[in-house]
Amino acid sequence: MKYKFYTEQTLESWNQVAEIHQRRNPELLKKASASDFNALEVEFNRLVDAQNLDSASVVQVCCNNGKDLLSIKNKGAGYCLGIDGSDKFIEQARALSQHPHYTNVQFETYNIYEIPERHYERFDFAVVTVGVVNWMPDLPRFFEICNRLLKPGGALLMEEIHPVLNMYQEGSPSKIAYSYFNREAQLDTDGLDYFSGEKYDAEPNYYFQHTLGDILTAAIASGLHLQTFEESASNIGNYCKDLADAPHSLPMAFIASWRKG
Ligand SMILES: C[S@@+](CC[C@H](N)C(=O)[O-])C[C@H]1O[C@@H](n2cnc3c(N)ncnc32)[C@H](O)[C@@H]1O
Repeated sequence: MKYKFYTEQTLESWNQVAEIHQRRNPELLKKASASDFNALEVEFNRLVDAQNLDSASVVQVCCNNGKDLLSIKNKGAGYCLGIDGSDKFIEQARALSQHPHYTNVQFETYNIYEIPERHYERFDFAVVTVGVVNWMPDLPRFFEICNRLLKPGGALLMEEIHPVLNMYQEGSPSKIAYSYFNREAQLDTDGLDYFSGEKYDAEPNYYFQHTLGDILTAAIASGLHLQTFEESASNIGNYCKDLADAPHSLPMAFIASWRKG
């Protein structure tokens, strides 16, 4: 239960920023109404297109406003379930999915650590897109839950910020300021408006650095088998985006896929 203090506080912070994020994306509702709407980042889009999605069941954990799950639905997936711990973002996801081509799509509010067992072994694919693992105080348990959601033979597809990027502090230019190995809970009170950096009286949130070794080891411990792993210098998280054009590229993102045995 150690995770509870951090995740519950952080989810309050996500709820608080939901309305600000919605204001930053005024076109999203209209864009999502198209049956070819696709908001996936280029490299993750390629990973998704390499799968057989035909009528496959897909769960996205920490789905935020659901734009990535709806993009996958538009590629031919079957039943899609989006889960997020912020009920305000889940409301937005439900609003985005109010179009006739989004049949068999549901969104539910749960802290990932408390997803009910009735969802276990239901899915051909579990999906995690950018900006999730850093909110997880207990990474082994996070992977264990992703694994449990999958049917035998199912796959976990992930796109994430590379942990090396978390060593940098944003600036002009962004510079190394933090240890790669600091695994303490990190308190942030600057808010979560990563679209425009609006300052507001922000609820605190807590984030966690997990090294690449931590991520791969937690996945192995859960029983998942690594299939593909690719690092890239792409700016997928809007964080320190100047570094995407740095003369000596650093790893800023990775995509990975695992299969359940
Ligand atoms: C950076 S956003 C993910 C954005 C998503 N990749 C996208 O592009 O739409 C992180 C999401 O994780 C959710 N989250 C954070 N901690 C969580 C937890 N313990 N359980 C469930 N959701 C959580 C937040 O509410 C937020 O919507």
